[in-house]
Amino acid sequence: KDEPLVLGIESSCDETGVGLVRGTTLLADAVASSVEEHARFGGVVPEVASRAHLEAMVPTLERACDEAGVSLWDVDAIAVTSGPGLAGALLVGVAAAKALAVSLGKPLYGVNHVVGHVAVDQLEHGPLPPECLALLVSGGHTNLLRVADIASDVEELGGTLDDAAGEAFDKVARLLDLPYPGGPSIDAVAVDGDPSAIRFPRGLTSQRDLERHRYDFSFSGLKTAVARWVEAKEAAGEPVPVADVAASFREAVCDVLTRKAFDAAKQHGITDMVVGGGVTANARLREMAATRAEAAGVRLRTPRPRLCTDNGAMIAALGAAVVAAGQEPSGLDLAVDSSLP
Ligand code: KG4
Ligand code: ZN
Repeated sequence: KDEPLVLGIESSCDETGVGLVRGTTLLADAVASSVEEHARFGGVVPEVASRAHLEAMVPTLERACDEAGVSLWDVDAIAVTSGPGLAGALLVGVAAAKALAVSLGKPLYGVNHVVGHVAVDQLEHGPLPPECLALLVSGGHTNLLRVADIASDVEELGGTLDDAAGEAFDKVARLLDLPYPGGPSIDAVAVDGDPSAIRFPRGLTSQRDLERHRYDFSFSGLKTAVARWVEAKEAAGEPVPVADVAASFREAVCDVLTRKAFDAAKQHGITDMVVGGGVTANARLREMAATRAEAAGVRLRTPRPRLCTDNGAMIAALGAAVVAAGQEPSGLDLAVDSSLP
């Protein structure tokens, strides 16, 4: 009860999230998703997402307060995603957070969405160790981070040069006529496939690429390789073995993600790793990360799937860390930054 009650608001993509946290204790995690409204377009439509946030914001705030059994007047600080993300979508969350900060007379903190994906693990596994490596894989981001202090010292070791891992899942799913979002559909059909049936390329793993992009990722070449492979089958009038393609594609993505993450841990002498973001729901990624962690002597922390996908609790968790670190609040002129590093 001594620790401040922090409200977190998330609206960077297609989930409207409101979370309530005290320290590293989760009190409420209310999420409204517009994913179904985007499904027929095969991807998130920014204008549709912004409107959905507008409609969902107040009801989601009410749900979070009900869930935690608190009133908005009990809130001590307000954290909000200020970037990265879709500009119009971010604006809705930031406007709501400012309105609350003014009307309740409480401090406002703009925080980084990607760092929130790491901070959320504290709600499940307690405070982070003094140093850890984070692999973040979602529909919008693929990052390797060195985290010395979640509130103030996060270093980006690498990121994707083109598509995010989740985006690659979504695009390959579309190419295989599987429903959106692609990650879960590919995961489902891959179960019956042979992961070694087709050797798809592992982006940025050649000796030459490693010199400049040791911790960076690239998935567009892999997507193209899958497209070419499927086209060749169709041109030959042969049936496409969807399960084998899905399993082989999934294997390529998970292999390169975990290979680079454990290489970075080894190189930096880091023995704790957090794997987060929506793609962490992938069964093969979890399995491969666990196997490689065991072999490398790395302690692996993976938040439960519900906390891996976008939510407000992750923003509240990071907000709580920032408040605890005694950082200055953001001003009411807090701006959204869609390409925040
Ligand atoms: O973190 P998230 O909910 O939203 C973003 O911040 O992007 O991640 C959504 C992404 C989507 O691209 C979706 O296809 C992917 O996570 N995803 C998966 C799985 N479940 C969701 N990717 C692979 N395997 C899954 N089981
Ligand atoms: Zn995210």
